[in-house]
Amino acid sequence: MAYIQKRGISPAMVKNFGLGAAPDTWDSLRNAMHEKGFTDNELFDAGLVKRGKQGGFYDAFRNRLMFPVIDVRGNVIGFSGRILGDGEPKYLNSPETLVFNKSRNLFALNLAKKSKSGYIILSEGNIDVVSLHQAGFDSAVASLGTSLTPEQARLISRYTNEVIIAYDNDGAGLKASQRAIGIMEKLDIKVRVLRMSGAKDPDEYIKTKGPEAFRKLLEGSENQMDYRLRAIREKYDLSVTEQKSDYLREAVELLARLPDEVRRQVYAMDLARELGLPPDVIVNDVERRRDRLVKSTFRQTQKQQTQPEKQLQPPSRELRYDDPASAAAEEGIIRLLYLEPSLISTPGLPPPEEFSAPALGRIYDALRKRIEKGQSVSTDHLAGELTGDELGLLVAILQKPETLSRSRQSIADYIAKINEQKQLRSGGTDLMALRDQLKKKKGYEG
Ligand code: UTP
Ligand code: MN
Repeated sequence: MAYIQKRGISPAMVKNFGLGAAPDTWDSLRNAMHEKGFTDNELFDAGLVKRGKQGGFYDAFRNRLMFPVIDVRGNVIGFSGRILGDGEPKYLNSPETLVFNKSRNLFALNLAKKSKSGYIILSEGNIDVVSLHQAGFDSAVASLGTSLTPEQARLISRYTNEVIIAYDNDGAGLKASQRAIGIMEKLDIKVRVLRMSGAKDPDEYIKTKGPEAFRKLLEGSENQMDYRLRAIREKYDLSVTEQKSDYLREAVELLARLPDEVRRQVYAMDLARELGLPPDVIVNDVERRRDRLVKSTFRQTQKQQTQPEKQLQPPSRELRYDDPASAAAEEGIIRLLYLEPSLISTPGLPPPEEFSAPALGRIYDALRKRIEKGQSVSTDHLAGELTGDELGLLVAILQKPETLSRSRQSIADYIAKINEQKQLRSGGTDLMALRDQLKKKKGYEG
């Protein structure tokens, strides 16, 4: 308790994480577990006792603050113990056992998976995680003394597609960040690295500067636009003139999609500064591109309104619908969820794979994920997850009329339509049977 107090860990966190202690003796746990009916062999298999040279058993964890490692289903699968005070090794982890595999689990993912924040904070140390949760950052996890493994990244990707790395502020931390970024980007996880200055790790940062300062840091790292601009920039070598202009073109295209004029200009000026170009020129470029985008979206809707038969098809030819009737209902679901996210709880909503149009499935999936994480939706937010064509399609979908007064009924109708069409599509044999029946009725054999 004295050590927990000294590290500034609150009683609530002790409870939350199930922290405990291993006394400085050789047999406390062993005796206690014997009383509960466990055998030495069982304790050995669980990694809780070790075998001495003379064949006797003794407690594996001694004089340590104990952190249970809990899997996402809530089972305690191992322990991580920090020495109380100084000594070696600083941390001791359970050995690999039948149930414990360090490289496939993350410390505190059992708690972080319930977070409403929409992202996961990846830190190095158990103490960092406890400190972060205590300060209100309830999506913090740590890899268990290894650098992030592909298995851990895959586990993370089941819960979020956004990770903020808050590793120690040293050379090793930086190297580990780089490795982790490589692993996570392969899984389409968006990764940001927190730049903490003046503290060696999140625990120290929060203790010296306070939770608010840490929140600011997080928000700074969260800016979608900065992130996406950086992603574009990284594709090009800006010392090569031609690549510089490609970067400029792509960045302008991205900025033109920002709905807010002030933000467009601020970013345009940053971009100009970065490339050493006159700010006015870039600001104008972005505005002109924006104009053209708005006009072409407008023309598309006009065309759809004057050509009803074409209205059923998406603006991009690449995305043509195979089943326009089902697609219309799929569009309807997207439109309703966008306008009224609480409809996400409607029973029977099909998974994205059941959408007849893959592009609509992807839009729906992106929308659904944001809503389920409690994040707000707007075309601006979704832009990061969609291709240009898909974004254009979404814009077109949103421009079609939809009444919200009977939204519960409408979404149920759309779901029914999708199911009906799916049956029609898969039911080729039934249709044949039906046709045969009809033919028989008419008195001739096929
Ligand atoms: P740190 O040394 O940074 O520890 O190791 P920490 O969590 O910040 O703890 P304090 O604040 O110094 O008490 C980061 C993580 O690396 C693993 C542990 O999981 C630890 O939390 N580690 C560290 C080990 O597995 N073994 C060690 O000997 C040291
Ligand atoms: Mn540390």
